[in-house]
Amino acid sequence: MTTETGTLFLHPDRNLAMELVRATEAAAIRAVPFIGRGDKNAADKAAVDAMRKFLGTVNFDGVVVIGEGEKDKAPMLYNGEHVGNGRGPACDIAVDPIDGTSLTAAGRQNAISMIAVSDRGSMLDASMVFYMDKIVTSHEGIGVVDIRKPIGENIRALAKAKNKPIDEIVVAVLDRPRHAQLIDEIRAAGAGTRLMLDGDVAGGINAARYETRIDMCVGVGGSPEGVATACAIKALGGLIQGRFLPGSDDGRQKGLDAGLDFDRVYEANDLVTSDNTYFVATGVTDGGLVAGVRRKGPIIRTESIVLRGRSGTTRRVIADHLAAKWLGELDVAGLSG
Ligand code: FBP
Repeated sequence: MTTETGTLFLHPDRNLAMELVRATEAAAIRAVPFIGRGDKNAADKAAVDAMRKFLGTVNFDGVVVIGEGEKDKAPMLYNGEHVGNGRGPACDIAVDPIDGTSLTAAGRQNAISMIAVSDRGSMLDASMVFYMDKIVTSHEGIGVVDIRKPIGENIRALAKAKNKPIDEIVVAVLDRPRHAQLIDEIRAAGAGTRLMLDGDVAGGINAARYETRIDMCVGVGGSPEGVATACAIKALGGLIQGRFLPGSDDGRQKGLDAGLDFDRVYEANDLVTSDNTYFVATGVTDGGLVAGVRRKGPIIRTESIVLRGRSGTTRRVIADHLAAKWLGELDVAGLSG
């Protein structure tokens, strides 16, 4: 066989994501004692610590392109840090030990722990510009929706492509004052909204994946989250478009210095140039993408989604971890369920 798919079938290679999922599982489990305890920094620190330790055992040579921030401000998983055991493929890596730190601290739904990986040099470093305007859909939106068009027009076009009545179209958007007009326009077009308190990576993946109730995820969220979402979209075959938004003159200059173009619409291939991508996310708290960590007698159960760009595979990994192996610190009410 000469097609790429055929070659893959004859010579299956390793799915790095199947190893990376151990790191998001560990981060999610370690965050549990902090669910609903009001301290988002403590939750994040526990997750960062666990993720970093587990990443150190994985056979790859990763450089953090999107991490916890600049080296002087982030002691671990800082941008530019080398992770992995240094053997194996050279990769770029985006980490968010908890996407939804405030959700976790408040005890709300939809917090996940996530990692995205691609070939070295292929992941756009978007760390200097905080916000990106995004639109994400399933494959039906490709060539159909366009972030430059009004939202009402995109909703009508997607409804037609999906052969769905407009009033069955559901659009996820972060619940922020900056989106008040966007939300009005979505509803005026006849579609429904799913307002997210936080966590637009999960929102974007939900919009792109098969068998989902979300048709589109739109609005302004984090730029790093946009790049991570693009890694997942490569495996799901959906659409992502994004435009960087400078928060200030200083932000604009930093973006320009880094080679970003504020007038350009970035698509999946611009955000991540390689198709060899991996994406893993484990639920911290229950959500529409994955269930949160829960305790079942002697077992701690985690649910993760594991995506691979090259093969277009989506896996759900349910893992039962013997609680006794995870120190007594996890015996807290937050883990029951
Ligand atoms: P953190 O949990 O890492 O703080 O991110 C949560 C999040 O909701 C992201 O999912 C989203 O992209 C971004 O924050 C939106 O930023 P803001 O809260 O400033 O609107």
